Amino acid sequence: MNPADQPCESTSRRDFLKTTALAGTGATLVVPAGFSSSLFASGDDTVKVGLIGCGGRGTGAAEQALSTNGNVKLTAVGDAFAENAMHVLERVKSSLGAKGERVQVPPEKIFNGLDAYQKVIDSGVDLVILATPPGFRPIHFEYAVKAGKHIFMEKPVAVDAPGVRQVIEANKVAKEKKLKVGVGLQRHHQAGYLETIKRIKDGAIGDIMAMRVYWNGTTPWDPRKTREQCRSELEYQVINWYYYTWLSGDHICEQHIHNLDVGNWVKGGKDKEAEYPVKANGMGGRQVRTDKKYGEIYDHHFVEYEYADGSTMYSQCRQMGGCWNSVSEFVKGTKGTSNPSGSISGKGIDWQFGEKQKNPYQVEHDDLFAAIRNGTEYNEADNGAYSSMTAILGRLCTYSGKEITWEDAIKSEVSLAPKKYEWDAEPPVKANANGVYPVAIPGLTKVL
Ligand SMILES: NC(=O)c1ccc[n+]([C@@H]2O[C@H](COP(=O)([O-])OP(=O)(O)OC[C@H]3O[C@@H](n4cnc5c(N)ncnc54)[C@H](O)[C@@H]3O)[C@@H](O)[C@H]2O)c1
Repeated sequence: MNPADQPCESTSRRDFLKTTALAGTGATLVVPAGFSSSLFASGDDTVKVGLIGCGGRGTGAAEQALSTNGNVKLTAVGDAFAENAMHVLERVKSSLGAKGERVQVPPEKIFNGLDAYQKVIDSGVDLVILATPPGFRPIHFEYAVKAGKHIFMEKPVAVDAPGVRQVIEANKVAKEKKLKVGVGLQRHHQAGYLETIKRIKDGAIGDIMAMRVYWNGTTPWDPRKTREQCRSELEYQVINWYYYTWLSGDHICEQHIHNLDVGNWVKGGKDKEAEYPVKANGMGGRQVRTDKKYGEIYDHHFVEYEYADGSTMYSQCRQMGGCWNSVSEFVKGTKGTSNPSGSISGKGIDWQFGEKQKNPYQVEHDDLFAAIRNGTEYNEADNGAYSSMTAILGRLCTYSGKEITWEDAIKSEVSLAPKKYEWDAEPPVKANANGVYPVAIPGLTKVL
């Protein structure tokens, strides 16, 4: 038997079909706890997946969703641009090999445009993958929750405080509806991190005094199109989304969130999953990646975060060639130190995670789909929102040069979003006559 067709842990396919065979007959259904009623529209245990945002990560997430156990199909896709929505189908099909038949998207369920997300969500799917640039995430998440869909959403889940609050509010409803929500902070599904952080929380290195977290690397991708190749300024910015803070949150949000999230997770202590900083200060700028085609974001940030107990998290993120690179986290405790991805060091406490690890991108989907099928609680959105807020707090500090408290940052009404999401709408940031975008200047730029 193909492992993908194995019965789920607590609900075998036969039992499942027994309980769902009444669908459409008017008789009362025995619904396994946690299943969304929409799952029964199809009359079997197939989870129908819709993909919103058909770029690199959306492609990967769709492949991973379709590689989970049980019946699962991709039935709708949507992207801002028609060609991306078309091309994703072939990419996913070919990478899945024999499971490529799980891609069952008819032409009328390939959507494009800035409202494609609504069409995918309303197309009869059970779960949606939200993998657009993060600036759109809060509105997509809120709409998916209202529609009662299970959700896998990529990180970050917002780029500003109003977006974080929107996600947290929508998530209250998601929890009431028992929707399952996964967030693409895949280190939470990586065996080495899970085991090491459990040991830290159990006291292996004593009390945590300080952490260092890094995403020092290079430019992930260069702008894809010139302004002349685009129909409007807003289209230009959406295509080159990485370089506009309203779309990416800057790389401290878009990329470094992974490491900041690990710091919060480690700080969580034994009885709570995570703890968030109470204040921060920082510095940053753009020193190398200064060409106007690189929009408005910085190329480096350094932030010092402080938690309620006075312990600190020192954070560096840099996108510059030819420099020291590291994507990692370190923890210093009163009894020893740890690299939370898999080791603990100190007198008499040396330990190393030695097991082979499964691909966490796959495990995060396996875990989410298992929760959907088994009706177990599963919701990562609050942590996703607070870790996004941690990154946003850092950016507010580096852009302004000020010390800012969590409390002031999270209640901020400063929204980076445009007034409307239409191709000819005015984007929230504009270039001057020479095509140069305003860049935040510490000491002068107001962020709250
Ligand atoms: N968890 C991880 O390790 C990881 C890795 C890479 C990316 N990501 C995240 O995944 C998200 C997507 O990143 P990517 O690398 O796939 O980017 P990408 O540019 O490759 O893909 C984004 C896609 O979204 C489409 N899009 C843009 N605006 C849209 C809208 N309003 N509606 C529908 N489609 C829209 C684009 O046309 C593009 O096809 C980001 O939030 C990123 O941070 C996470």
